[in-house]
Amino acid sequence: MGIIKKFSLQFGKPEGILGSIAGKLMSSTGVEKNKWTISLLNIQSAENVLEVGFGPGVATELISKLIHDGHYVGIDYSDVMLEQAKKRNSAAIQEGKVTLKLEEVSSLQPSEFLFDKVLSVNSIIFWKDPITSLKKIRQVMKPNGLIALTMLPYMKGATEETSKQLGNDIACYLKQAGFSNIKTEMKEMRPVAAICVLGVNNQEEKVS
Ligand SMILES: C[S@@+](CC[C@H](N)C(=O)[O-])C[C@H]1O[C@@H](n2cnc3c(N)ncnc32)[C@H](O)[C@@H]1O
Repeated sequence: MGIIKKFSLQFGKPEGILGSIAGKLMSSTGVEKNKWTISLLNIQSAENVLEVGFGPGVATELISKLIHDGHYVGIDYSDVMLEQAKKRNSAAIQEGKVTLKLEEVSSLQPSEFLFDKVLSVNSIIFWKDPITSLKKIRQVMKPNGLIALTMLPYMKGATEETSKQLGNDIACYLKQAGFSNIKTEMKEMRPVAAICVLGVNNQEEKVS
């Protein structure tokens, strides 16, 4: 396998030295899409927030500045990302506001918190079974809690159409997992438009 292919694979599960470099790159290029996703969630000071696939912990840092009585829990299945995110957020972890865990989303376990808001940025395309994982996420959300799933496609040849198709796929996953009020937002970014699909944890719909 060539080095470029090996490096691009590092964004799905960063490991070793290449994974560490990928994490540094994500932290320098990832701020805009993370800020945008957070703004769409309208996070309040007392809310509990779950992030899936926190990577180098850029959103963790931004969210920890918004919540004061609430709690942020992040999960990621890469130990290299866990170390980078822990370093970036050591003060908030010590304060007890932030918990970072090594966990695969499809085996998400309930914690002491139920979540008002959930986000995941550039991660869902790597999940093995997105619908099952989204159902797991619903089980740890408060009724009427809000989820935001963002994708900014970096792959070679990606266009605005790629973002729209990703948005349609994500909207289908959310619907099949029982979320309602599904809404798609788009924002011009580099190299192409980013897409964010939002959904509400529908109380009427039982998690199967
Ligand atoms: C491209 S990075 C994005 C990181 C960060 N959200 C950002 O925007 O900078 C994708 C992250 O999702 C994590 N990830 C992918 N699939 C996952 C899964 N099934 N369970 C937990 N984490 C996962 C990867 O380890 C990686 O840190």
